Amino acid sequence: MVSVEPIGNTTILGEGPHWDHKEQVLYFVDILKSTVAKYEPLTKIQTSVTVDGGPVSLVIPVEGKKDQFVITVGRNLAVMTWDGKSSKPSKVDILSTVDDEDGKQENRFNDGKADPTGRLWAGTMGPESKPAVVDKHKGSLFSFSNDGKPRTLVKDISIANGLAWSSDMKTMYYIDSLNFSVEAFDFNVQSGEISNRRVVFDFKKNHIDAFPDGMTIDTEGNLWVACFNGGQVIRVDPRSGKLLSTVKVPSPQTTSVVFGGPNLDELYITSANNSLSHEERKKYPYAGYTFRVTGVGAKGYPMTNVHLA
Ligand code: BGC
Ligand code: CA
Repeated sequence: MVSVEPIGNTTILGEGPHWDHKEQVLYFVDILKSTVAKYEPLTKIQTSVTVDGGPVSLVIPVEGKKDQFVITVGRNLAVMTWDGKSSKPSKVDILSTVDDEDGKQENRFNDGKADPTGRLWAGTMGPESKPAVVDKHKGSLFSFSNDGKPRTLVKDISIANGLAWSSDMKTMYYIDSLNFSVEAFDFNVQSGEISNRRVVFDFKKNHIDAFPDGMTIDTEGNLWVACFNGGQVIRVDPRSGKLLSTVKVPSPQTTSVVFGGPNLDELYITSANNSLSHEERKKYPYAGYTFRVTGVGAKGYPMTNVHLA
């Protein structure tokens, strides 16, 4: 039986969940509060740290470095040193800044993830006047070398979102929320090049009235996609383009999803409570919470830390 439990504290724009399998803790961010949270399911204790300088859209531990995390701050990629307890980081070192030259100063980073080799990928989006209403085609998708230098892979993105890789590392799945689809690229793991872009799951054809947001992949090769304004995560088969099942959460702005727990068979789903009306807030008292879901009948892979030089 599927069971859904709200955890930790609420957020305005909860995002970027990362399950640290070694430590058995969940990291996630609140983009609009510029905070990084750490939640330990065993004790149910949540701690958080506030970062100065702009919205923080992702948090991923640095491989082999205790208390170091790759984060984004506005258009900057940075390494934060944090003991997991203090309300301020002990250090934030900027590694690089994207979109500097071409008048895109208002962009900010959004979703990002390390590929199975530990290479970071992250995308940007233009300024948002209200949730999912943005200046279109202002964002890009970047990958980063192990010293943090960006490389532009895709341009003209509206809201850069979900990323996932097939277990054979031959396919990269990708979401631009305003395309209302999940797309795939052929992925060259050595060179980091992507090609042959195509749609593998179409939200409109499947009558899903929501924005595709963050996603993850299970050990059967199916994708779990958070549906912003849909209050759900869907499981889709990217090979057949079919919708397989749905997990409902009591928060309409569902933003991202990862597998976690001791057996990697639980889902952690982040959500937002961004400009919801008074009525919606009353109807959804758990809007903005993160949810732990058990009994979904699928398993994920351990997530990869970022490898830096
Ligand atoms: C972004 C939000 C946006 C939402 C829409 C999220 O990933 O962080 O700013 O409103 O996607 O799908
Ligand atoms: Ca997202």
